[in-house]
Amino acid sequence: MQFKPFPVLIAALGLSTATSTQADGPSIEARWAEASRRAAATVKQMTAAEKTVLTHGIMPLPVGPNPPPIPADAIAGAGYVSGIDRLGVPALKESDASLGVAYVFGLRKDGATALPSGLAMASTWNPELLREGGRMIGSEARAKGFNVLLAGGVNLMRDPRNGRNFEYFGEDPLLAGTLAGASIAGIQSNNIISTIKHFALNGQETGRKFVDVKISEGAARESDLLAFQLAIELGQPGSVMCAYNRVHGQQACGSDWLLNKVLKRDWGYRGFVMSDWGAVADLQAALHGLDQQSGAQLDPQVFFAAPLAEAMKRDPAYAERVDDMNQRVLTAIYANGLDSNPATRGGAIDLQANAAIAETVAKQGIVLLRNQRNVLPLRSATQRIAVIGGYADAGVMSGAGSSQVQGEGGPAVSIPLGGSGPFAAFLTQSYHRSVPLAAIKASAKQADVRFRDGRYVSEAVMQAKQADVAIVFATQWSAEGFDQPDLTLPDGQDALISAVAEANPNTIVVLETGGPILMPWLERTAAVVQAWYPGARGAEAIAAVLFGEVNPSGRLPVTFPASERDLPRPQLDGFDSLEPNFMGSAPDPQARLTADYDIEGSDLGYRWNARRHHVALFPFGFGLSYTSFVTSGLKTNGVTASFDVKNTGDRAGATVAQLYLVSRGGEAKQRLVGFQRVELAPGRSRKVSLTIDPRLLADWLDGSWQIPAGEYQFALGEHAEALGTQVTVKMKPSRW
Ligand code: BGC
Repeated sequence: MQFKPFPVLIAALGLSTATSTQADGPSIEARWAEASRRAAATVKQMTAAEKTVLTHGIMPLPVGPNPPPIPADAIAGAGYVSGIDRLGVPALKESDASLGVAYVFGLRKDGATALPSGLAMASTWNPELLREGGRMIGSEARAKGFNVLLAGGVNLMRDPRNGRNFEYFGEDPLLAGTLAGASIAGIQSNNIISTIKHFALNGQETGRKFVDVKISEGAARESDLLAFQLAIELGQPGSVMCAYNRVHGQQACGSDWLLNKVLKRDWGYRGFVMSDWGAVADLQAALHGLDQQSGAQLDPQVFFAAPLAEAMKRDPAYAERVDDMNQRVLTAIYANGLDSNPATRGGAIDLQANAAIAETVAKQGIVLLRNQRNVLPLRSATQRIAVIGGYADAGVMSGAGSSQVQGEGGPAVSIPLGGSGPFAAFLTQSYHRSVPLAAIKASAKQADVRFRDGRYVSEAVMQAKQADVAIVFATQWSAEGFDQPDLTLPDGQDALISAVAEANPNTIVVLETGGPILMPWLERTAAVVQAWYPGARGAEAIAAVLFGEVNPSGRLPVTFPASERDLPRPQLDGFDSLEPNFMGSAPDPQARLTADYDIEGSDLGYRWNARRHHVALFPFGFGLSYTSFVTSGLKTNGVTASFDVKNTGDRAGATVAQLYLVSRGGEAKQRLVGFQRVELAPGRSRKVSLTIDPRLLADWLDGSWQIPAGEYQFALGEHAEALGTQVTVKMKPSRW
């Protein structure tokens, strides 16, 4: 297998021009080949001392037990790796993350444009839009002088309580991999490097630095690793960031299996592996495939500086690796033009245009979950609206941690939740300056709109009773380093919603959550709108959906379970034994924590539910519209598929056609194998053709993909639990 895009898949997704060539430039393959030749020539010219310059970096911030001196050309951000002037090699200036240029604890006061959360982006099911979002945040990184964006978070959701789900793209390898690849390609179109992270199986934050993941090779290759593989093929990231956790007893950043065998040998990856910050345990990680030690002041030692230089003198295995480490970092630098078109600080940023992109993503990512009696869209006859809770008078919620972006002027509201020192900023709940109350007032025109903060239930109920419609904003904050203890809404919000819904039958709940939640009040409400963390212009997008200026088209990229009992792990591993702790390090060196991913194997989310016959609260792929669609006429031979999509309602809108493998050889086996977002005017229809990536039908067995002979059933699905007529295909066996 080679490091090149899977051509059929790319063509099918309409990404060919996006990823395989850069505006009239050489093909991506030619660029990487040329970059690799140049890198080899540079490595030949390096002195011994120069060979351990690109292999380690610092956090150019006053953090860690021994903060290093900060070089004059560094920018306050997550990382800095010195360049080599003599050889024209630029320093790497690294900023987080997948949702925009991060705020670095407020140490850099210039704001940036916040995209909606990863799950909001994933709910668009729209790779072209994600590419545009990636291009936008990459352009801001570049204009601020960064040439590496620590983006491309693509860990699959194995647990809805994972505190970083909001940074990622959901539970399905095809959907997540496709979207992450598109976002990475967009970022890198700015002549900067994007990472893809966190490689791999980083499924929870509790004990994140030592939790040991147990999973069979086949299950890993068919799920989490497949998401990475697809995204790498589509997006060609210059760097892969390895994860904090352990896999089969090894730190992921020192895992010979993950880094050397899977990534570099089997996938032919030619970029470099950088560590997560504080994830390197020893020098040996170099032999196991790690190329660069990031933020090294957070590790026990700067292993990849003097100790590596020593090792390379005495041990040919290290000497060979050091050349390869440099070769890889340089290849990524040259392939992305970091030297030929350098990012310089002070570039122009069109904040208005960029906010408009964030708003489009939010509009397409909002998912309408419930709409009884067509209470939505709100009508102009609505006289009085009660808006309750969720700081809706101030802003929209954002997720916290290294990915935290803030707009110009910083957060609208920021609530410190504890801790001390710079990392305390990670424990701060903050809201973007996009105000739902103002946006609702602007759209409601004549209506009398009143706000109550929801702290007192009696007051909220009184307002709701007097209104035609009550809109409750409910929030669930989540942050890197911490998992949610359960799936309830915190701070008594479930009771608030129940009481308001009791008082007013036209109660609409707008959710700003990091991921799935339970909804004990669901049946009492008229409508539920999942807005996730909706980003820089989230409020405007929410109002546009509520008032029908936008017809909702988002579809869930994750399963909302009916109960925590239905999850593969009803209780999160370590939840009952570990104190919540941002660093996630072991309380004592002997501590052990295992996460057994063989329970569900590659069957995450809807696949697990299908296997166990669980019915979701809201299934994967679910989302309502103000119009209606019919998909029909499925034809497939297991390699390609075609069908028709028709807008059968009376207003324009978009749907996401979803094609599922349903069963194989008589055995239930559900997998999303294709999707296409389709916009249609009322009454219009469109023929859709898809190509099925054969890996989605296969098992990984004994070192290869294998498609067993037999009858394969496919069906179009409105969502994972509403499947249409099945089409049976006899497949020949194959193996590759
Ligand atoms: C996170 C990474 C991030 C890095 C640098 C780590 O704590 O896991 O996602 O890129 O910090 O800020």
